[in-house]
Amino acid sequence: MLDLTATKVHDEARQGERFAPFKDDPNSYGKQFYIESYGCQMNFADSEVVAAILNKEGFGATRNVEDADLIFINTCSIREKAEQTVRKRLTDFKKLKTGKPGTLIGVLGCMAERLKSKFLEEEKLVDIVVGPDAYRSLPRLVSEANEGQKSVNVLLSREETYADIAPVRLNSNGVSAFVSIMRGCNNMCSFCVVPFTRGRERSRDAGSIINECRDLFDQGYKEVTLLGQNVDSYHYIPGNGTEANAVSFANLLEQVALISPELRVRFSTSHPKDITDDVLHTMAAYENICKCIHLPVQSGSTRILQLMNRTYTREWYMKKVDRIRELLPGCSITSDIIAGFCTETDQDHQDTLSIMDYSNYVYGYMFYYSERPGTLAQRRYQDDVPLEVKKQRLQEIIEKQNQLSLADYKKDIGQTCKVLIDGDSKRSSEQWVGRNSQNKVVIFPKLENGRHKKGDYVQVQINDCTQATLFGAII
Ligand code: 5AD
Ligand code: SF4
Repeated sequence: MLDLTATKVHDEARQGERFAPFKDDPNSYGKQFYIESYGCQMNFADSEVVAAILNKEGFGATRNVEDADLIFINTCSIREKAEQTVRKRLTDFKKLKTGKPGTLIGVLGCMAERLKSKFLEEEKLVDIVVGPDAYRSLPRLVSEANEGQKSVNVLLSREETYADIAPVRLNSNGVSAFVSIMRGCNNMCSFCVVPFTRGRERSRDAGSIINECRDLFDQGYKEVTLLGQNVDSYHYIPGNGTEANAVSFANLLEQVALISPELRVRFSTSHPKDITDDVLHTMAAYENICKCIHLPVQSGSTRILQLMNRTYTREWYMKKVDRIRELLPGCSITSDIIAGFCTETDQDHQDTLSIMDYSNYVYGYMFYYSERPGTLAQRRYQDDVPLEVKKQRLQEIIEKQNQLSLADYKKDIGQTCKVLIDGDSKRSSEQWVGRNSQNKVVIFPKLENGRHKKGDYVQVQINDCTQATLFGAII
């Protein structure tokens, strides 16, 4: 999954996102909740499901943590640093509670799954602990906690997809929304804690996904991003159907694209071993399916990929890149890369740098390896690359990505692209910010006659760039 807290060479729109919801109508709810989300887009989407459940219980969303009766933090366990950040925030919240004793503090998401007893019993940091498959039990847990009990539900489920819950969009620009299509992961990459914190893979009812996307379009949204840990293994058999009626990811993508040519469709994340030609052909067939594939490589060394249990080789990955280039010329490819995995040599690291050149990533999320308790790697291998070496290699990977991004963005100068306007640019209300099909951020001056609004498509001619932003003018 894309991780919003990672080092990323990219846009102004998504950096450091950590949201608290707006106060919709303070008078219509008796009590207020505040929620802060960390980690992948899936967590951000889950917070919107939590908001829907809490709204139904009479809690309205607030941006001000001081106003809240309920404070939630939706957590990420993917790297140690993510967990440290959450701990710090929980300590801040606990201090706040001293001045307002009735307030309840809850931990949601992946850390809840991992550290339930620690939070509740040893450190007494929180009142409520809820894992990613247990959000339906929030109303009960909140009322138990109000009565002074410590409330926990971290049961993982094989079925839960929250298919019937219409998420309440938090901090949305009204243009772009995330739609969760599946949960969990069966892949067991050896470095990754996600299969333990989010459980087994399950696909959400295709009809409910299409309805949610259609509703979003009817409300004025112009872009949906279909989310899953591994979208290419989406597989849904409706009602009493059989394998013959199964809906694949390619089928789903097509059905969402057919809602309207005005609705852009994105998806994330693709596992290189699972993305099929069917998906690539579907992308080619529909202009509104954005030409951007997030295809995490993790490492360019076959030996390391094997230790990582990624189930492909360097050459196999390169062939996948060739196939994308063949069927989808101009499609951007982006990646996740880990520096300094167990036993990584300098040669392995060079292989990562060279596969970055080969794949010509438009941007990347880059990390150094952080050992996670309970993972296959932690049990089987020694975390033997010294921290300074990990950091040095990560730095080289970041520099390589900066060069690749800049070279790629420079090629767009003089070209024209179709941009969906996200809103005002952060730098100036005289400028729009939007994204093109390749998910590159584009900034351009508003026209004086005020003809356009956010959510409009415009043709922009590119005249300048940095490594993370294109600049241009409407034509
Ligand atoms: N250490 C560093 N990076 C990790 N990722 C997952 N687990 C770890 C870990 N233990 C990265 C992978 C994944 C992304 C979401 O986070 O690159 O694709
Ligand atoms: Fe983790 Fe691998 Fe699953 Fe991604 S595909 S969530 S990296 S186990």
